Amino acid sequence: MIVLGIETSCDDTSVAVYDGEKILSNVVSTQLVHKSFGGIVPELASRAHLTVINSVLKSALDQAGITLTDIEGIGVTYGPGLAGSLLVGLSFAKGLAMSLNVPIIGINHLEGHIWANKLASPELEPPFVILLVSGGHTQIVQVNEWGQYLTMGRTRDDAAGEAFDKVAKLLGLGYPGGPVIEKCAEKGDLSYIKFPRAYLKNGSLDFSFSGIKTAVLNHVKKIGEKETKEHLNDIAACFQEAVIEVLVNKTKEAALRTGAPSVCIGGGVAVNKTLKQKMSEVLNEQRIGIFVPPPSMCTDNGAMIAGAAHFYLTGGSSSSLSLSPEVSLNIPNLNQP
Ligand code: KG4
Ligand code: ZN
Repeated sequence: MIVLGIETSCDDTSVAVYDGEKILSNVVSTQLVHKSFGGIVPELASRAHLTVINSVLKSALDQAGITLTDIEGIGVTYGPGLAGSLLVGLSFAKGLAMSLNVPIIGINHLEGHIWANKLASPELEPPFVILLVSGGHTQIVQVNEWGQYLTMGRTRDDAAGEAFDKVAKLLGLGYPGGPVIEKCAEKGDLSYIKFPRAYLKNGSLDFSFSGIKTAVLNHVKKIGEKETKEHLNDIAACFQEAVIEVLVNKTKEAALRTGAPSVCIGGGVAVNKTLKQKMSEVLNEQRIGIFVPPPSMCTDNGAMIAGAAHFYLTGGSSSSLSLSPEVSLNIPNLNQP
């Protein structure tokens, strides 16, 4: 079955074609309009999706070497995400499904990040534990079967990617923060300062990243502009180290508690090389396997939506054309409509 995957939940417009074995194309158009604002401006995001979605579809079809009439099903992200951005993708997908007379299925964006691992490593099978770590989400999910998810812990305030973005903004490093902090951190001194790690009480697998962001802010205020500039790399390195330590230790703990033989990572922060390296080291010691998709499949993309959609559509599920955005959709409330 040739499935089109459409993803517009945040600031990436992406369309992909997947035939159940191979990703035939995965075109992503990232919006640059938000850079100067230090974060995503929702109204600008939905307008930018509208402007490019037709040409992104055309490129995806061209690269896959197919035409519209070859499409046999459509998957589209219906939540969580920004209301206006989700609406653009959903309306576009519904119009296509109606005109082509093919089934449509709404896909949970978070489940898409889980499927990115399956597409990248076809040998992956449940049970496993996945750390979903992006700009909007940070949670640990136990996957016992495809389509059955249990959240073991989630952030109580900022997502890890959001913390990278906010710290980059206060250091004057621009948006998105993750890549630039990672780059600065490569040259930083880890013994410069120890920022707080929030492990929370009673062995909780929940996260909290607002404290570390405040700690960086207080430190920067204390040392002033000149010294902050001098120690930019050190601050970035110590901040990154603190966030990663908590992510790795809680994910390891989740894997040990469930007895899962492997761990996956999904979402934009999974691009981070230090996170991947630290996670591998810690899991190797426990003889737990690790799967991480390539960077293009960690950040938001249509292929992960097409992968999940292929699973549901070939299993006989589909959504009605009354499907509407669910801004706060979460796992495990994955009732496919
Ligand atoms: O999954 P994604 O593309 O979009 C959301 O669903 O949020 O993730 C984007 C997030 C941003 O917060 C960005 O700063 C972060 O992923 N990110 C990184 C890196 N690359 C992207 N964080 C840390 N290190 C990176 N190399
Ligand atoms: Zn995402």
